[in-house]
Amino acid sequence: MIYKAFLMGADYNPEQWLASPEILEQDIALMQKAGCNVMTMGMFAWPFLEPSEGNYQMDWLKSIVDKLYAAGIYTMLGTPSGARPRWLAQKYPELLRVDSLRRRQLFGERQNHCFTAPAYREKVFAIDTELAKTFGKHPGVLLWHLSNEYAGECHCPLCQEAFRDWVRKKYVTLDALNAAWSTAFWAHTYTDWSQIESPSPLGDSTLHSLQLDWRRFCCDQTIAFMENETAAIRSVCPEAKVTTNMMYYTYDLNYFKLAQKIDLAAWDNYPVWHSGDDAAVAADTAMYHDLMRSVKHAPFLLMESAPSVTNWQGVARQKRPGMNLLSSLQAVAHGADSVQFFQWRQSVGNSEKFHGAILDHSGKEDTRVFKEIAELGSALQQLGPVCGSTTKADVAVLFDWENRWAIAGAKGPFSSGTDYKDMVQKHYDGLWAQGVSVDFADMESTFSSYRLVIAPLLHLLRADIAEKLRAFVAQGGTLVTGPYSGVVDENDRCFLGGTPHALRDVLGLRTVELDGLHAQQQVRALPAEGSTFSLPHAYACTHLCEVVECDTATPVLCYDSEYYKGAPALTVASFGKGKAYYVCTELQPPFYRDFYSRLLAQCGIARLVPFAYPPCVEVSSRAGGGKTYLFVQNFSEEACPFLFSELLQSGWTLMYGNADEDTLTRYGTVVLCSRQG
Ligand code: GLA
Ligand code: ZN
Repeated sequence: MIYKAFLMGADYNPEQWLASPEILEQDIALMQKAGCNVMTMGMFAWPFLEPSEGNYQMDWLKSIVDKLYAAGIYTMLGTPSGARPRWLAQKYPELLRVDSLRRRQLFGERQNHCFTAPAYREKVFAIDTELAKTFGKHPGVLLWHLSNEYAGECHCPLCQEAFRDWVRKKYVTLDALNAAWSTAFWAHTYTDWSQIESPSPLGDSTLHSLQLDWRRFCCDQTIAFMENETAAIRSVCPEAKVTTNMMYYTYDLNYFKLAQKIDLAAWDNYPVWHSGDDAAVAADTAMYHDLMRSVKHAPFLLMESAPSVTNWQGVARQKRPGMNLLSSLQAVAHGADSVQFFQWRQSVGNSEKFHGAILDHSGKEDTRVFKEIAELGSALQQLGPVCGSTTKADVAVLFDWENRWAIAGAKGPFSSGTDYKDMVQKHYDGLWAQGVSVDFADMESTFSSYRLVIAPLLHLLRADIAEKLRAFVAQGGTLVTGPYSGVVDENDRCFLGGTPHALRDVLGLRTVELDGLHAQQQVRALPAEGSTFSLPHAYACTHLCEVVECDTATPVLCYDSEYYKGAPALTVASFGKGKAYYVCTELQPPFYRDFYSRLLAQCGIARLVPFAYPPCVEVSSRAGGGKTYLFVQNFSEEACPFLFSELLQSGWTLMYGNADEDTLTRYGTVVLCSRQG
């Protein structure tokens, strides 16, 4: 591990303060007072690091890194590729991105460069190498922070050429390409590689396989750009450790794939708290923390979060007293080994001048925010032994970017209402409410260590994942999938001969129709007669209802109206030593809660605590060094009951927080510890 204790700190932009050395001096003393032990710097400092071509000026940054280190504060050093200097864009205009309408952007903003342009890759390689020469062996530099929130796509001639090469390498012959992309449709046959163009509203926007391959290409190209940065750093320091800050539910980038090329996962978390149901926001945030832990199956870094307001959100709502601590410890509960903020000191000008920061424009340490950060620092010290521990889950949920892209790109039946992320979230929320640990997986993952695998909307089904799931169920695992799963292959071509392709025998059914519902339309699903699964209610089905015919499957729920009244809405089949459930429709939250509370018990998966608790409470767990840590958190402004005494009587000890009188305080966090058993 590159760190020995929890990291706490912030993005720090000293280049904005070079004209005020007294501020830089004050900063270090205040960082110590706040309890910070890490700062992330350099992401937006390129004009100061290389004011003119080849004229590298690293000394000012080195002196800050030195001073921080002397004060016990580590540096995560950013590479500046996310925002290049004006002079560079002026000299190499080919690095400016071209949009899908083939318009080249002017200089401005950030993270909007071409990922392909050799000139940009070379300039980035050069400055990253210079940074590595200056800082690579610096004992204060803990980790390299590659760029800043890689994102987006470029349609410039260089990217078109690279895309053609990528496509040619993949398909080798035009016949193979035409077959894979189903180009016989609407006279789209390619007769020369030079005809390949990225999707555009001015050109091809309905060739689904082209769209899917374009997404894959853009992802690969971004990763290649990132690898060029790592190569520069490692050309000087072969041992250097790298990360990059990922974002909330990013669509463009397959983070499972990207994560293979970094040493630690890190992400930037900006939930919209205090806008309604904070427990729902907590579940949503929990899902992303779990995803970030799962892309490396290891603790991750919370690279950014807002200490107070997030000014780019529709309403810049202050975090209520206690929310900063609660939401920071939620990240820790799900596997974060750091809590970092954007940013240390509020900038004086431009679009982030009203974004929350640990130090606001007053520069004072007596603010509520500053005090709350210091309080978080002492909480993290108290929780010290938790650092580095991991999460053991019996449940895996597929969050698969290839499926996400295929579904978003398809014309119907998903077009109205059904979003891949929302569907995954519904299953996750049902599990979250039970208080069990959940991992995420993609099609490359192995499943043998899990008891329950959930693959919502496994629409695009690769042959190898079908095989893995079949083996998983045959060997005793439980699979949940559907609706509309096993419908297209990896090129987005529909399977012939019946669906869910390759899993029909596992699921024991055949799908025959898919009905779309308008927003205001619902169909009820009722417990099927004779089903032993014992779901207690009728449930509302929305957006899509799939009609299936059972072979070995038996119905658990049946539709209660429409021409498919009486047809199954949820089925179960036995296959080998395991079971496979098919959810034929999209349901509402009560269904997923009821379903998973029963299914977990049936799979022998114990909840983290054996008793019921209010829905505003989240329970999560980490384990390591022979100990298990249980986090209990209240996302409500009201105190609520929680049976701590039952846990304290059964071997758990109180490690952090107030568990008096079996009450969890408003926004409270309690951490209990026990020997791993
Ligand atoms: C992103 C960026 C930061 C900053 C924050 C503000 O996460 O990475 O540089 O702009 O947003 O919320
Ligand atoms: Zn480009």
